[in-house]
Amino acid sequence: MKSIDEIRAEIENYKIENAEALEQFRLNFLSKKSELQSMFGEIKNIAPEERKGFGQMLNELKDKAQQRFEEQKSKMEAAICSLNTIADVTRPSANIPLGSMHPISIMMNQVRRIFEDIGFTAVTGPDIEDDWHVFTALNFAEEHPARDMQDTFFVELHPDVLLRTHTSSLQVRTMEKQQPPIRVICPGRVFRNEAITSRAHCIFHQVEGLYVAEKVSFADMKQTLLYFAQRMFGPDVRIRLRPSYFPFTEPSAEMDVSCYICGGEGCNLCKHTGWVEILGCGMVDPNVLENCGIDSEKYSGFAFGLGIERMTMLKYRTNDIRLYFENDVRFLQQFKAATL
Ligand code: PHE
Repeated sequence: MKSIDEIRAEIENYKIENAEALEQFRLNFLSKKSELQSMFGEIKNIAPEERKGFGQMLNELKDKAQQRFEEQKSKMEAAICSLNTIADVTRPSANIPLGSMHPISIMMNQVRRIFEDIGFTAVTGPDIEDDWHVFTALNFAEEHPARDMQDTFFVELHPDVLLRTHTSSLQVRTMEKQQPPIRVICPGRVFRNEAITSRAHCIFHQVEGLYVAEKVSFADMKQTLLYFAQRMFGPDVRIRLRPSYFPFTEPSAEMDVSCYICGGEGCNLCKHTGWVEILGCGMVDPNVLENCGIDSEKYSGFAFGLGIERMTMLKYRTNDIRLYFENDVRFLQQFKAATL
């Protein structure tokens, strides 16, 4: 039989480097069949006066073995645990796809920034409007076709409640609250009861603008819109105003910009005319000013409105308006670089 000292030395020096060695250690010193355990069976063969001391020494060894076992076991568990959680800072990061702004938001912000730079302030308001703010205050005659069911989404339960067909409603709301000088732009979503095609949608976005002060002239409007066109399409762009009609402006005009693709030579985009229409504008009708509580003898103003989808289609040369509403990432991803 090994001596107590030999066993003690074995317990102390046993190499426990892995799980197998730990198990072997347990079998050698702690299991029922181990040498150490079987020595407890020898107690009865020892001279009675030595039994107590022998037993104590065996118990000490057993405790020592148990202690070493527990120590090594928890060390090993901690090592495994930290192996699983430790961060490898040299590992390439997972591919986190970058999002981007929607092209409509990019264009809205761009238009907005251009006008904010010359003192316009953006105002927003409700998509669901009443007849007064969308039509009546804006000088629409009672039988004007724009009020027709074919153009406007009305709320069935209440004929006075409708989805705004233009953000001119915000110009009315602003003038009702505020006396001139007024310089606002009104970005927002608008709704028209139109069949959805590649060129038209029942939902789209506008930015409209309004400037009311003393002695505001048609020349002021033209110069402001030229500034806008040049910031948007480049310094060489030219503009032209064609007479038009809107109930809320007199005189009214539609504005074209020289085709920025062909520079006016004629191409597919401008349908070989050299010009592309981008917005409607005009001098605010005195009736509208009076409807909103503004003295039309003292003040005059101009207004304009442009469709954001149309501008975006022109600028990025896309040919189907529905692309802007489908949220297909393959389409949207292409605008990453354009984020303002
Ligand atoms: N509200 C007009 C539209 O939606 C645009 C416009 C605004 C025209 C202001 C003239 C002046 O078509």
